[in-house]
Amino acid sequence: MNVPRHVAVIMDGNGRWARARGKARHAGHRAGVKSVRATVEIAAERGVDYLTLFAFSSENWRRPEHEVSSLRNLFLEALRREVEELHRNNVRLCFIGAREQLNAGLIKKIEAAEARTADNTGLTLNVAVAYGGRWDIVSACKKLALRVEGGELQSGDIDEQLISAELQLAQVPDPDLLIRTGGEQRVSNFLLWNLAYAELWFTDVLWPEFDKEEFDRALEHFSNKQRRYGHTGEQVEAAEC
Ligand code: IPE
Ligand code: IPE
Ligand code: MG
Repeated sequence: MNVPRHVAVIMDGNGRWARARGKARHAGHRAGVKSVRATVEIAAERGVDYLTLFAFSSENWRRPEHEVSSLRNLFLEALRREVEELHRNNVRLCFIGAREQLNAGLIKKIEAAEARTADNTGLTLNVAVAYGGRWDIVSACKKLALRVEGGELQSGDIDEQLISAELQLAQVPDPDLLIRTGGEQRVSNFLLWNLAYAELWFTDVLWPEFDKEEFDRALEHFSNKQRRYGHTGEQVEAAEC
């Protein structure tokens, strides 16, 4: 089976899962942590090199303050409980997003988790927090503009490689497969630049119910795809021989 090197996931549907059970939205987020654990495990088992999870978007700041703060507490708790286990499993943990917007305690925990797992050589787990695809592109443009202002770079030299190199996932190959749970078929400002050629897989399963079987269904979908990148199918077949 052709396994994607990089899988990106929009973990959606926690609130609806909770509502369907007469519970508060927070209960859905809490239940979703178990799906994160299962997804990290199965991704590593299947030989995926990079897993990028959308945990909190730049737009999610618009949610009620009590939901934002309960998510913050849940992240802190998850970091406290999971980092050692991830480390034992050789997972390298990285965070992407506008971390300066986060509270100081959380930034400290994030930095400690990154440092603790920095030398691990197994799955790279990127967690997107306070992340927006447009923010990522704007930040990259600003960094390039500074280099132009400093005389280090000519504006005419700016190309796709230079922009890619300033993005949050500069060191990571583009996602091969995007999974979105929760039934919506939209990108919601996730990795706009990097998803240019990702295969898209949407499922109605709500995130707290996402499990290894569902992940395998997504991998199966991916392995049946011919990735043409603009070529004809015949050209791709000829190159494969
Ligand atoms: C995704 O679940 C988690 C976050 C965005 C933090 P939602 O909270 O968006 O769940 P629904 O879409 O309301 O069901
Ligand atoms: C996308 O889900 C963000 C995350 C999963 C973190 P949302 O629930 O925020 O997306 P929209 O608002 O329905 O597009
Ligand atoms: Mg949602």
